[in-house]
Amino acid sequence: MEEPKNTNGNDPAGANGNGKKDGPLQELKEKSREAIPMLLKPREGRVWKSIFRHPLDEKPRNRSLAVLQNVFLHLHPARINRDAVRFSFTWGMGGITFYLFIILTLTGIFLMFYYHPSKVVAFRDIQYLEHNVPFGKILRNMHRWAAHAMIITAWLHMMRVFFTGSYKKPREFNWSVGVILLVLTLLMSFTGYLLPDDQLGFWAVTVGTNMARATPLLGHEGPGGPELGMTAFNDVRFALLGGSIVDANALLRAYIWHCIAIPVLASIFMIVHFWRVRKDGGISGPAPMLLESESDQVIRG
Ligand code: HEM
Repeated sequence: MEEPKNTNGNDPAGANGNGKKDGPLQELKEKSREAIPMLLKPREGRVWKSIFRHPLDEKPRNRSLAVLQNVFLHLHPARINRDAVRFSFTWGMGGITFYLFIILTLTGIFLMFYYHPSKVVAFRDIQYLEHNVPFGKILRNMHRWAAHAMIITAWLHMMRVFFTGSYKKPREFNWSVGVILLVLTLLMSFTGYLLPDDQLGFWAVTVGTNMARATPLLGHEGPGGPELGMTAFNDVRFALLGGSIVDANALLRAYIWHCIAIPVLASIFMIVHFWRVRKDGGISGPAPMLLESESDQVIRG
C-alpha cells in the first residue's frame, strides 16, 4: 500500500530520498531554492505581479495595461491620436500650467514654514527668508516666478484652444471650466501680492479692492448698490478686506484665500477639467488631413 502523504506531497514520516530526516529547516531550504530563480527574474515574480500585475514588455497589450493600472498614468488614455498631442498643436501650455501649479503648491508649503500673516511680522518674515534662511531667496523666487509664468501660460493655453477652435462642440462646457480656472489663477496671484506686506502689494490691493466699490448691486458705489442698502461698511469690498481699509484683517483674509480656499477650488476645477478632456474624446487634435493621393480617391469616389 502507498504511504500517506500530506497536501504538499511531502513524506509525513520525514524520510527523503537520501535517507535523511526532513525537518522544517530542510523544508525551508527547498522553498527558498524554488523562490531564488523567481527573485532573479524580479519582473516575473510574485512581488512584481502583486504591484504591477503584468509583465514588463513592449507588447501593445502590456503597454496599455501599464498605463491603465498605474496610479499616476491611469488618468491618461491608453491610446491617443498622435497628432492631438503634437507640441505644435497644443503648445504644451495646459500641461505646463498644471506643472507650474504643482511647483507653486510645493514651494508655497515650504514658504508657510517661515511666514506669519500678521502686520507685525509679515514683512520681517520675508526679509528674514530672503537674507537669512538657507535657500530662502531661491525658494521665494521659485514661487514668485512660477506664479508669473502660470498667468502667462494659462493665457497662452486659452489662446491656443481658441485658435484651434477646440472650444466648439462638444467642448463648450470645458471651455467654461477653463474660464473659471483662469479667474482662479488670477485671484491666486492677486491675493499672494499682499502677503509680503510691502508697499507694492499694499497699493495694488488698495487699488484692486477699490474697484470692488463699483461692483453692480454688491458695491456701495456700483449700479443698484445704494438702492439695495450697500454702504462702505457692508458691501463686497468690506467682505474682501474684513474692514473698510487694507489692514490686519485684509492680510489674514488674503492669506486664507491664497493658501487654502482658492488652491482647493482650483484643484477641484482642474480635476473636472482633465476629466472632461477625456470624456470629450481626448484632446481635439488638428483637422483630419488627406494626402494628395487619398484626396484623388475621394474625388473619384
Ligand atoms: C489652471 C489653468 C488650466 C490648466 C491647468 C489647464 C490644463 C489643460 C490641459 C492639460 C489640457 C489638455 C490639452 C492641452 O494641454 O492643451 C487642457 C485642455 C483644454 N483646456 Fe485647459 N487648462 C487651464 C485653463 C484653461 C482655460 C483658461 C481655458 C479656456 C478658457 C481652457 C480650456 C480648455 C479646453 C476647451 C480644452 C480642450 C482642448 C482640446 O481638446 O483641444 N483651459 N487644459
